[in-house]
Amino acid sequence: FLRKPTEAGRFSLDAERKFHHDRSAMSCFCPPVRNNRLLYTLDLNDGYNTDRFIKRDENVKEKLDNMLHWLLLNKNRFVTDERRANKTNVIGAYPDFVLWRGHLSKMMCTPFEKREGWEMAIQKMGKTIYISEVETVEAMAKRANLSERERLMTYWGVRFEGYMTGNFPKPGQNLKPKNLMESKQTVTNTNTAFCSVLRSRLNSRHSLIYGAEVDCCLPVEVVFAPDSYVELKTSRMFDSFRQENSFYKFKARKWWAQSFLAGVPQITCGFRDDRGFVTELCDFKTLELPSKTDAWNSQTCLVFLDNILQFIKEMSQDTNAHSVSKVALLKYRPQEQYILYEVSDSKEFCFLPDWFVKAMRD
Ligand code: A3P
Ligand code: MG
Ligand code: MG
Repeated sequence: FLRKPTEAGRFSLDAERKFHHDRSAMSCFCPPVRNNRLLYTLDLNDGYNTDRFIKRDENVKEKLDNMLHWLLLNKNRFVTDERRANKTNVIGAYPDFVLWRGHLSKMMCTPFEKREGWEMAIQKMGKTIYISEVETVEAMAKRANLSERERLMTYWGVRFEGYMTGNFPKPGQNLKPKNLMESKQTVTNTNTAFCSVLRSRLNSRHSLIYGAEVDCCLPVEVVFAPDSYVELKTSRMFDSFRQENSFYKFKARKWWAQSFLAGVPQITCGFRDDRGFVTELCDFKTLELPSKTDAWNSQTCLVFLDNILQFIKEMSQDTNAHSVSKVALLKYRPQEQYILYEVSDSKEFCFLPDWFVKAMRD
């Protein structure tokens, strides 16, 4: 059982990937619709191979750095004395785990993941275990060898976000979705990101703080984050029941894991054709996805996550508030169907930077 996550904080990464301790990069959910119908066909190819597409350099490995920045800026909001835990703005005790939502999602889905492996680097400082993903050799090769078609299709997903989002309306003003002209001026820059920092607890024995990139937010004042957040997705429209079944069997599992962990209730999907044209939008409720198939189930995922976090805890060496453990690697290999745990003496996989360790000691 995962306690419903609450938002402990947020941060933004700007067009140059610089960190800001605010919501400046948060975008507003404003699909170009009237009476639930799209006002125009969304051409997801628009802007590809032009100066309106700026792509983040994926060879730069940021590891946990932005989360660590946030932690330091909010250090005083964590308490060791539980009696102070009711005070305004206090988050609570330091958590057992700090990581990205995507890491939890990958570990959680392992029982149903037969193709893609993963590797996590693990370091402990004080009572907190930090986890940071290491790109596998297979994932790196796949990324380096993407076909032109695959590159274009990756662009489709991010271009869709531009059509669906805009600026928040000023107080007293109505929401105005972009018209086609405005939409065709949109710059797609994958450096820009808005991140929510969530706090949750798994089965009362694992407290977690994790960052999650959030696509957009409803322009409402009565609903609070993460309930006001919306996840955006694209998918090939269904031509047959077979395609629809396969969608719920495979894709919906990843969609569920991603949004469930962040407490995001709604996923809005743009259904596209093979040319990258979206003519239909559809809303999925995150909590309803598991009931659509029996190819996977949420209970197995959560039990597995609980067990693997417990395993990581038990394997981690004791550290006091001022010391940092050696780095351990946890690797899932789907072909061999095993998970390997090894402690490494090499500095190569250590990801807690000196600036963080120093500042945490002060
Ligand atoms: P789609 O998932 O609609 O294809 P997210 O949905 O997680 O917010 O990601 C937005 C888009 O970024 C995706 O849209 C996809 O285009 C791209 N993307 C996300 N994760 C990716 C990955 N691991 N590899 C390649 N592209 C990815
Ligand atoms: Mg996203
Ligand atoms: Mg999305």
